[in-house]
Order: sequence, then structure tokens, then C-alpha cells
Amino acid sequence: MSLAQETRKRRTFAIISHPDAGKTTLTEKLLLFSGAIHIAGSVKARKASRHATSDWMEIEKQRGISVASSVMQMLYRDHVINLLDTPGHKDFSEDTYRVLTAVDSALMVIDAANGVEAQTKRLIEVCRQRDTPIITFVNKMDREGRDPISLLDEIEAELGMPCVPMTWPVGQGKAFGGIVNLRQRNMRLFAAGADKRSDDDEIVPLERRDELHARFGHDWELAEGNMELLAEAAPAFDLEAFLAAKQTPVFFGSAVNNFGVQEVLDALADLAPSPRPRLSTRKDGGTVEIAPEREGFSGVVFKVQANMDPSHRDRIAFLRVCSGKYTPGMKLKVQRSGKELRPTSVVTFLSQRREAVEEAYAGDIIGFTTHGGVQLGDTITEGESLQYTGLPFFAPELFQTVELANPMKSKQLQAGLMQLGEEGAIQVFRPEVGGSMLLGAVGQLQFEVVQHRLKAEYGVDIRLMPCRFVGARWVTCDDEAAMRKFTAEAASKLALDAADTLAYMMTSPYDLRLTQERHPKVVFHPLREHSGLALQTS
Ligand code: G4P
Repeated sequence: MSLAQETRKRRTFAIISHPDAGKTTLTEKLLLFSGAIHIAGSVKARKASRHATSDWMEIEKQRGISVASSVMQMLYRDHVINLLDTPGHKDFSEDTYRVLTAVDSALMVIDAANGVEAQTKRLIEVCRQRDTPIITFVNKMDREGRDPISLLDEIEAELGMPCVPMTWPVGQGKAFGGIVNLRQRNMRLFAAGADKRSDDDEIVPLERRDELHARFGHDWELAEGNMELLAEAAPAFDLEAFLAAKQTPVFFGSAVNNFGVQEVLDALADLAPSPRPRLSTRKDGGTVEIAPEREGFSGVVFKVQANMDPSHRDRIAFLRVCSGKYTPGMKLKVQRSGKELRPTSVVTFLSQRREAVEEAYAGDIIGFTTHGGVQLGDTITEGESLQYTGLPFFAPELFQTVELANPMKSKQLQAGLMQLGEEGAIQVFRPEVGGSMLLGAVGQLQFEVVQHRLKAEYGVDIRLMPCRFVGARWVTCDDEAAMRKFTAEAASKLALDAADTLAYMMTSPYDLRLTQERHPKVVFHPLREHSGLALQTS
């Protein structure tokens, strides 16, 4: 098969949701329906073992498991589908955001009773910044939930794009009768059960409307009324608009009952995009688009995970293949350093087990163990000189100041924080005027992990203290005089990050707004790209 054919077969997506919406359940059902696993319960069991304890050390002990479960590959029809998990709960971190830079689309799972919740909103923002196409699944229709029309309104408002229902529910909760497939014009009748396959469901064509009416009475009438309303008010599904992140197809179902899952899997195969070209910087500073089917292997590292065992300094780097084909034994070069990369082992994630990679194409994720020399955002190629853009650092939302228990250890602290910063475990800011170093994170657990790792790996004891900052914005300004005025006035709130990029530390959203108004020529960026070159405007 040609490179172009292999690439076209691939679908790489992330599941985004708020904890408890049913992400794990849906993941498991997708794997089950695609035939990647045969017994329900295996993904679920692992989740239980991860969350049975709230102690992060225990979570870390499970790391071998969480590594394997964070990327899953399945074969469905003639497609290779790569599913990436976005960790939530306590383990929400910048990695959660960065996963979204490695995918071509996202599947958003929403609990019908709760609508779009906080964590989903944060992830939607990143998808919006990147124009990632989003498929929406409204889960738990077998429970009493919100009215589907009001849910659509909320999703539209949160996503900032129209919803296009692809299926429509008849009844809800105890009265849940099933879903109408609006394109195929038939109704899949609901039956509870965690072991059934989609072929087991009864399907009634809409020509037999009277039968459906007789069976579901008022619920049918209500659904029919809504469907008529939607036919007039909602836009038609438009593949181009979906791919441009200008509309989201919406599906309804109940993951725990294997219901409505087939439609989602088919949408991933039929609608979701295959890998798209990616931007790379050229030596002369310009950018060039690299097509996924282009010869010559290249990929970008979007996650680096350290081994918790302090006697093993090895790391697992997760790389998204962007072009060409990977085969074992291939010579690889890290573009940033120009050094050859000799991974000790390279794995893929077929059927959730870590297996030796035989070949990987654009869209696939491979993991390799290294003893250093690989950083987040690194471009790795067979030799060709490329540097992919777009792996961002996200402005932290939580800050703590670092105090050393033993001042003699400040060198070790610097070294440790630099290393952990490179890995993306935490962001480090040095205030311009005095003061202790600041650590920035998007999830609370990141602080605990860093505190523990500094002690275990660098022998440094730190105390973490609360501080007044609630956010950071990287700043740039074309006007030198305006920048001087700003840096003089805001000196007490300026800090340099690990790449020596200047950031404004804000004490409240109001503070940021006020500062922006006072310094209109200064640009405040919520994202910083890996290379420190490109910044995105807020
Ligand atoms: P998450 O990964 O998004 O955190 O959610 P997860 O799949 O673990 O699901 C959270 C809870 O919601 C689970 O219940 C799960 O069984 C339930 N659930 C998932 N899909 C549906 C659905 O379609 N309908 C209903 N009624 N419930 C659903 P739990 O009590 O936390 O766990 P368990 O004891 O059922 O395993």
C-alpha cells in the first residue's frame, strides 16, 4: 500500500470530557465494537485501580498501565483509529492540553444531565484555538437529563459553532425509546445491556411511523415535533464545515448500554479527518507545509514521561508521526541538537498492549525510551532538517512559590527545575525583581509530583507556598518606548520563564484587563510556542 493510502486510512482523535461523563465507558465500547478488545470491563478495571487511591504515588506506580492506556489503536473496517486519552481529575496537567496538539479531531462526551462542564470547557478552548473538528456525543440518555434542545443550545454557545444532530432521541430516562438516525431515516430501539452488539438492536424504518407512534406515544410526538423544528432551524451537515471546525455533528446514546456507539464509530471512520499537513519552520525562518504522505519519516514529541524510579533516568517520549513511515532500526536525528537518537525500545499501542513497532505512518503515535536528549516539542526525522511548529506552552492557572529547606542546595534546585521544566512537568518563572522562584501549573497534582521528584531525583527538599498570582501572559511589543514604559511600571509583576521569555503575572482577570488598557501596544499571549518564536494573541 502506498504512503498516501496508509495515511488516508488513519484517524487520530482525542476524547474530551468532564470526569464522570462516561469517557472511560465510551472508550471501552469503541474498542469493543471495533474488535480491539473482546471483553467489556478491562479499561474500566484499570481506571478503578488508578482511582481507587487518591495518593499520586500510587497513580505513578500504575504508570506502566497509564502509559499504555493513554494511547489506543484499533482497526475498524479499513481504518486505523488512534484514540488518545486526555487525563482528568487529579492528573489534569499540561499534558492533557498537549495531547490535543497530536490529534486531528476530538470526540466530546457530555453527560445529558450536566451539559458542558468545566473541564470540557477548558479543553474546548484549546480545540478552538487549533480549529480541531469536534464530534459530540451526548451520553446517559437512559437517565433523566436535560431537554435535548436546551442541551444543543448550550453546546452551540460553548463551542461557538452550530450543532448538527445526526441522531435524535425519543424519550429520555426511564422512557428512553431509542434514537432516530436522521440520515438513514430509521430508529434504533433502545434495549439496556452492557454485552450486546449493535446488530442486536431492533431497527425500524421511519416509514413505519404509525408503529413507532403507537409504541412511544407522547414521546414520539415530542421527538417528531423537535425533528421537524430542527429540519428547518439547524443547518444541514456539511463535511467541509465540520472539517473547518465550523459545525459539530451531534450523536445521542448510552455508552454503558452499548447504545448509539456504532454511530459514533462510523462517524469517526466516515467523517473524521485523516492526518493533515503540518507546518514546519525552514532554516530561513519561513514556514513550509509538510504533507503526511511525503516520503521521509518525521514526527514531533508531544509528551515526555519520566520514569519514577530514581535509579532509572530514562524517559518515555511520545511522538506523533507527521510524515513518511517508521520502521524498526531506522536512524533518527533530533533536529534541535543535531544528535542521532538511539532509542532503547520503540513501542506502538495496538490493542492497548505495548508491542514492538513494525511500522508506523502519519497519525500514528509511537513511544520510545530514551536516556535524555529528547525534549518536548522536538522534531525527529530520518535526517531531513525540519522543525514543526505548534507545540504550545499553556499559561498556568495555579502558582506556588518555592522555598528551599536547605539554602546550600540551590544549584541542585536549579538543575532539577530546569530538567522538569524541559519535560513539561511544571513551568518555572523567575521574578524580575527579587522574590522566590514561582512554579506554574494547570493541575494541582503537578506541584505534588514536582515536589516529590525534586527530593527523589535531585535530593532537594522544597516547601511550596501560596502566592498572589492567578495567571500569566507572555508579553511582546513592537514599540520599544511602550515596552520600556510597561516594564518600568509593571516591574513587580514581571518574570522570565525557562526559555527567558518575559511574562506578566496577573493577580486577577481584572488586573489583566486594566493593564491591557493602560498599555495598548503590549500584546499579552496565553500560549507560548515551544521554540519561543511564535506567540498567540489572547
Ligand atoms: P469518565 O471516564 O468520564 O470519568 O466516566 P466513566 O466512563 O467512568 O463513567 C462514570 C459513571 O457513569 C460510571 O458509573 C459509568 O458506569 C456511568 N455511565 C457511563 N455511561 C453511562 C450511561 O450511558 N448511562 C448511565 N446511566 N450511566 C453511565 P460509576 O457508578 O461511577 O461506575 P460503575 O460502578 O458503573 O462502574
